[in-house]
Amino acid sequence: MSNNKIELIKNTLDIVDVIQEYVDLSKKGKNYWGVCPFHDDSNPSMSVSPEKQMYKCFSCDKAGGIFKFVQDIEKISFYEAAEKLGNKAGVEINLIKSEPKYNERQKKLIDALNDAMDYYQASIDSEDAINALDYANKRGLNSKIREKFKIGYAPKKGLINYLTKIRHHNESDLINASLMNSIGEDFMKDRLIFGIANEFGDTIAMSGRTLKNDQAKYINSSESLIFKKSHILYNWNNANKVAKKNNELILVEGFMDVIALYKANIENVVAIMGTALTKENINKIRGLKIILMFDSDKAGISATIKSIRILLENGIKTYVAQNPSGIDPDELFNSKGEKAIKEIIDNRITALEFIYISHKNKYDISKIEEIEKFVESFKKYLIYASPVERDFLINKIKNELGVSREILVKDLKINKTIVKAQTTHNENKVLNQKKNEYNQEKYDIKYNKSAYILIRSLLKSKSLSEYYDRKRHEINYVDRTLPIIGTYIIAAHRGIEKIPNKYKKYIKEKINLEGETIEKNEDLDDIIKVINKNHKSYEKNKNRIKFNKKKDGNYGKSN
Ligand code: GTP
Ligand code: MN
Repeated sequence: MSNNKIELIKNTLDIVDVIQEYVDLSKKGKNYWGVCPFHDDSNPSMSVSPEKQMYKCFSCDKAGGIFKFVQDIEKISFYEAAEKLGNKAGVEINLIKSEPKYNERQKKLIDALNDAMDYYQASIDSEDAINALDYANKRGLNSKIREKFKIGYAPKKGLINYLTKIRHHNESDLINASLMNSIGEDFMKDRLIFGIANEFGDTIAMSGRTLKNDQAKYINSSESLIFKKSHILYNWNNANKVAKKNNELILVEGFMDVIALYKANIENVVAIMGTALTKENINKIRGLKIILMFDSDKAGISATIKSIRILLENGIKTYVAQNPSGIDPDELFNSKGEKAIKEIIDNRITALEFIYISHKNKYDISKIEEIEKFVESFKKYLIYASPVERDFLINKIKNELGVSREILVKDLKINKTIVKAQTTHNENKVLNQKKNEYNQEKYDIKYNKSAYILIRSLLKSKSLSEYYDRKRHEINYVDRTLPIIGTYIIAAHRGIEKIPNKYKKYIKEKINLEGETIEKNEDLDDIIKVINKNHKSYEKNKNRIKFNKKKDGNYGKSN
């Protein structure tokens, strides 16, 4: 990746826009400020400078530019961050085309596999392959699909001869590449062959499907210098780019499912090679949202649950697209077509919702003992829920199972870094809003409480409002809406004018009418002193008061 491209991305993107996708920022002076996502905080200690195109947290000292920010928040490598930002900036960073570094021995195996793949692809059109071609066509694998996904046919014999006599490969390489078995025969015999590619698109292994009802439905190449099963996601080389662009990757169980989705014009799909996601898989897909679309049979559901656990533990935002009962995506495409596939993906539910539903199926919630088990087990997942989702689910359990919130949150050890990693931008927004509201409340108690007592009292007493009219110019309010409201109250008592609705609303929201009041004029003198003292302390601390003040302004400004 050239430095020019990095510079171009830097020059195209504004750090404020980039960070704002993850953190709410508000402008103060030259810089923007927000709550730092890299440590636990509720104060906006992170400053973002548009001038320097840098951010810095004054609390945890994290600092850097756009690349560092995206790397840290998404927990991805520099290259992946560059790719992500490149997409945003419209600058193409082509990771996939970066040259693979194979050593001599690996190169020999890859050459042999490439030659074998050519042979298999040609063989499917030969006379011996009538059954195979028929089978392929029946399963919707036409020549275009076979070309795209490297699908061919392994005849009962012939490959070894071709590779050794015509292409001059060594027998030992053929054994190491799982093309020849130890007794010198073809490794794959009379099977439909799916080429398995690495991230560079080079064939590194094969999987052969039986055309009959052979007990081994699929046979895979053995592990080798170039094929580590746990490292491979089928179709990653094709899906990678679209997935990163859409920020979303669909995970299915089988090769045929990948191809079914491709036929439905969905390209960001990969299949796991086996029954579980591996550490290496996780490292590839980190930073993407994952949609699990496994079979809806028992094995598929159990694989879904297993995968959810691993994904959530790694801070990956996870969804489940549920197939109709008993079928896999390939069968769904064949029976219902593209629309049905897309509908299911659009109607995905969050991983936690899926776990909730599967718990409801598993436990008999009419029995207390079972409810206990349900709750204990569900809590293990609940710690990974985003705050909004957790709240939602806790309420659901409260309503549907009759278990109190206290029980559900007791001993719940929420993993903050993980939750942070998977909390989406929107959820962050809601959260920050909640935080702001909370801070606003604290601030109101600190600086405005006395003023609210005063206004409340004025509403109740005409005589006090007359006294207030003489005194009001001596008062410095922190909340600049209150003097306006005060004046309206006087006018209302005098029958000159009604309090406008927006101020009525303000009074209702902020000044609880049931609260404390005063009655005597001398109490009003005292309270003015307190209000003015609060104002002074507010002015002194103003720069350190940390919350979004837009709310006040909404009411005050329109005058
Ligand atoms: P089709 O029957 O061809 O539609 O395959 P499928 O994709 O529906 O297969 P299934 O759901 O049974 O299995 C999903 C994936 O598991 C396959 O794509 C294979 O990767 C793998 N798999 C299935 N059967 C075997 C097997 O017998 N041996 C091995 N090693 N892998 C298998
Ligand atoms: Mn199938």
